[in-house]
Amino acid sequence: MSEVAAAEPAAIAGLPPGPRLRPVQLFRYIRDPYAMLRRYARDYGNLFTVQTARVCVMTGRPDLVRRIISAPIDQYGSRYEPGAARVFGKRAFTLVSGRPLRRERRLIVPHFQGEALNGLGGMIREATLDAFANLQPGETFVVRGRALDVALDVILRTVLGADTPERRAAFRDAVQALTRGYGNPSFLLLAALQIKGDWPPPFRRFNAIRRRLEDLLQEAMDRARAEGLSKAAILNRVVAARYEDGTPMPDEAIRDNMITTLIAGHETSVVSLSWAMYWLHRERRCLELLLDELRPLGPDADLSAWMRLPYLDAVVKEVLRLWPVVTDINRVLAKPMQLGRYELPAGTTIAASSAILHYDEELYPEPDAFRPERFIGRRFGPHEYIAFGGGERMCPGSHLAVFELKIVLATLLTRYRYSLLDEGTMAVRRVGGAMMPATGVRLRLDGPA
Ligand code: HEM
Repeated sequence: MSEVAAAEPAAIAGLPPGPRLRPVQLFRYIRDPYAMLRRYARDYGNLFTVQTARVCVMTGRPDLVRRIISAPIDQYGSRYEPGAARVFGKRAFTLVSGRPLRRERRLIVPHFQGEALNGLGGMIREATLDAFANLQPGETFVVRGRALDVALDVILRTVLGADTPERRAAFRDAVQALTRGYGNPSFLLLAALQIKGDWPPPFRRFNAIRRRLEDLLQEAMDRARAEGLSKAAILNRVVAARYEDGTPMPDEAIRDNMITTLIAGHETSVVSLSWAMYWLHRERRCLELLLDELRPLGPDADLSAWMRLPYLDAVVKEVLRLWPVVTDINRVLAKPMQLGRYELPAGTTIAASSAILHYDEELYPEPDAFRPERFIGRRFGPHEYIAFGGGERMCPGSHLAVFELKIVLATLLTRYRYSLLDEGTMAVRRVGGAMMPATGVRLRLDGPA
């Protein structure tokens, strides 16, 4: 062996290369971030700089993704932005970082996983059946619309414990008004320009909508305190939870975190469910394999039996690999960090992109194909599959989301048969904050299973 080790290449100061024209990147990112990120990865290599809402160093290379998601908690700093604080609220944990983030998440995240989910499955099955109850054989429908009913209903029942149709209707109106409010172009423009104060009419209107939702949440929290843990809803657990020093989370923080959950937890499920129904009815071979697994258990199966099915699990993973709802997860450096050969200064935004990583041909041969089998008998590392992000910020709703997707799919497929009416390759289209299958996925209900 040589006495002289090969010299490490010197770290490069400055940002990796990337496209120049910011308006073009902004336009492409809003129109189709999947196509844009993969195109730049081809053009500039697997570490490049994009300029969209902010300047960001992006990667989809597995070793660099590992570095991003496994960095110590104090590597990253605050993501506070006035526009985001207006929507999520100043106390939402999505805006804090470092140790305060860990403290807040400890109080909330455990209630979204493990045995906390046990009491929630029945509500999810019921919400699914309600949303599809009035469909007649031969009728056509758009999956996105029904999925929105299911996803909102699920989150209102399971997270907020809204157990009467009247309460759910009031919440549904308030959440939909909120989504329209922050999706409004004039609101977005004012927020992007970081306009302060509440005087612009889009801000005033939005504040009034948010206050209405806050009032409903306050009522729900008061009810949850009175009921205690006799009810399975996640809010009941959150209001009962205590920090290490024995104090509860302040009401304002619970409200802001619940609003964040409502926002982050329903569109994501709608997109994933729409894609799942699309792929299963386009690749009938996969549908048949899934039905072979589901049929012996019947439509009223014990939910824990559905959770153990390997092919159902693989289908959900493959849907989220192909079309990860969140195309890139970002972090702001609190201290310098070396990424690849670049020494990046504090203040730089860096991101790991699932839209690139999930199409790495070495990890996922024929990445454009829907092949759930790739997840059977093979476990991917946390840096190889990031549909739910990773590290300290990983999606707190990931277990609930997978649990929900499995129950909704199994419920729909064990009761009815459907045909896909969309032909050819499905394009994507932005609806609000999320990229959706362009048509919303059109199906016909053919009859009972
Ligand atoms: C298929 C459904 C879902 C997908 C694909 C998804 C994906 C993600 C991703 C990629 C992130 C960013 C994580 C990171 O930065 O490392 C995230 C954050 C988040 N998700 Fe989800 N999510 C889904 C469903 C849900 C649900 C059901 C909830 C709650 C009920 C939820 C609540 C949140 C919250 C509150 C955050 C912000 C976390 C933070 O900033 O610290 N998500 N999600």
